[in-house]
Amino acid sequence: DSLKHGAKRVVLVGPMGAGKTTIGRLLSRELGFSFCDSDSEIEARCGADIPWIFDVEGEAGFRERECGVIRDLSQTNGIVLATGGGAVLNESNRAHLKEGAQVVYLKTSVEQQFERTRRDRNRPLLQNDEPLKVLTEIFKIRDPLYSEIADVVIMTDKKNPKTVVKQILDQI
Ligand code: S3P
Repeated sequence: DSLKHGAKRVVLVGPMGAGKTTIGRLLSRELGFSFCDSDSEIEARCGADIPWIFDVEGEAGFRERECGVIRDLSQTNGIVLATGGGAVLNESNRAHLKEGAQVVYLKTSVEQQFERTRRDRNRPLLQNDEPLKVLTEIFKIRDPLYSEIADVVIMTDKKNPKTVVKQILDQI
């Protein structure tokens, strides 16, 4: 009952490098909620990491696992759920994520996404010669989808996590 419209969980959406995991952990502590991360849940259930899943099962296999995890976690109350950047591509994921939740879009410029992901080896979609171009392309497709399901949009560029969390708490 502390969240608007009787929401039972907070869902964080946004691109790779938006800070969903960092912000989600801090926010969950402030709310007294548990923190869940769809990517970590996929890895735990599969017993393998994301690069392995992409390698062996392809992106399609990963997306299938992601759908299952999103479906289940969208029924769990009292959590802050950080979602993988591509979770919103699937229409039923979008419906599940909205249901009973305050959805927060951590909006982030492509340049900032790039800065925050450039040393990271755990994101298969960026392990190529032109990660900046990839981030730009997928942002064009996904930004409208994040916006569509968001109750709250917060710009994260050049803000420290504490500031972002404070702004979220003011609006959910
Ligand atoms: C993906 C984002 C990743 C992870 C996977 C695919 C994407 O999550 O789910 O590598 O399609 O944008 P993060 O947004 O937590 O990096």
